[in-house]
Amino acid sequence: MAQPLHDHRPDRARPGRSAPRTALVTGASRGLGRLIARELASHGYRVMLCARDRDELRRAERRLGADGAETASVACDLTAPQAPTQVLAAVHERFGPLDLLVNNAGIIQVGPFDALREEDFRRAMETMLFAPLRLTTAALPDLRAAGNGSVVNITSVGGRIPAPHMLPYVAAKFAATGLSQGLRAELAGSGVSVTTVVPGLMRTGSHTAARFHGRAPAEYSWFAAAASLPLLSMDAERAARAIVRAAERGRPELVLTPAAWIGSRVQGLAPATTTRLLTLAARLLPGSGRDPAHDVPGAEAGRTAPLPSWVTTLGDRAGRRFGEPRADT
Ligand SMILES: NC(=O)c1ccc[n+]([C@@H]2O[C@H](COP(=O)([O-])OP(=O)(O)OC[C@H]3O[C@@H](n4cnc5c(N)ncnc54)[C@H](OP(=O)(O)O)[C@@H]3O)[C@@H](O)[C@H]2O)c1
Repeated sequence: MAQPLHDHRPDRARPGRSAPRTALVTGASRGLGRLIARELASHGYRVMLCARDRDELRRAERRLGADGAETASVACDLTAPQAPTQVLAAVHERFGPLDLLVNNAGIIQVGPFDALREEDFRRAMETMLFAPLRLTTAALPDLRAAGNGSVVNITSVGGRIPAPHMLPYVAAKFAATGLSQGLRAELAGSGVSVTTVVPGLMRTGSHTAARFHGRAPAEYSWFAAAASLPLLSMDAERAARAIVRAAERGRPELVLTPAAWIGSRVQGLAPATTTRLLTLAARLLPGSGRDPAHDVPGAEAGRTAPLPSWVTTLGDRAGRRFGEPRADT
């Protein structure tokens, strides 16, 4: 087997080395972030978890600890200007310098353009572009000093294909993929590897944590179905394993799910065709209605969604396992 370009195995896994490596995973209280943290811990990393909700973080720490992981957590809103200082201070105090940063925290807002406000775009950009930008900038001295430091940016197929009814998310993820790929090029030779992860839909169960606008129950229905059905979405644990493998190998890019891979290629080669298909998709999606709702949590929108419960069985099951909010009943 070919030797990986960047050997990111934890030092304690290497002969003659003793210090374990340290990772920081943002958005690690639930969903994909929690699974990436678990996977990193199983590769010998000590992992600092970060998210806003302290109780969810504590639950995640308990679950990971039960699996034998060495973790700590810091509750922090990453969109706050002082967040990078606070989070890195927590990493240094508990584990020492950072070797691997996973920018995973994200928010999903679903709804037609007419029901959205500028503040929705600002929130998406702050969470998924500026927060990782500031944290990466602050972490770079540690990562450079490590000699083989890594940044993993969890973007989305929404950062390659402008999916209708998700425009704040799309705008932020397009920006994030550009930043991530450009950063890889600029940091080449510095000893810091940047991996851009472009997932398609994964069954994390996060449809209950997403926010819905316009005709919220109808928007919830299409989104929750797409994020739960096996042909459209992938198993989140498998995704976490592939992400950690890609990080260890210092891969430039990882596209997850065949649909995301095909969609990205078609968009690159025939953008006019993609636009025509997206126009068709937009016509099939719900209109904004006479009195569009704003910012309805998925757990609430799901209560009156015109969707048979079996459609989201797999997504709901994943949500229960990976710490997502329960749908209201
Ligand atoms: N699920 C999918 O199908 C899918 C597909 C493509 C890409 N992705 C991307 O994968 C990543 C994880 O998705 P997921 O499905 O696991 O989402 P999720 O279950 O909703 O988890 C999001 C995480 O981000 C944290 N977070 C959100 N805003 C934050 C902030 N301002 N400061 C700190 N933490 C914050 C959340 O905790 P708090 O709310 O407590 O802060 C939570 O831990 C996201 O970047 C998402 O865009 C997901």
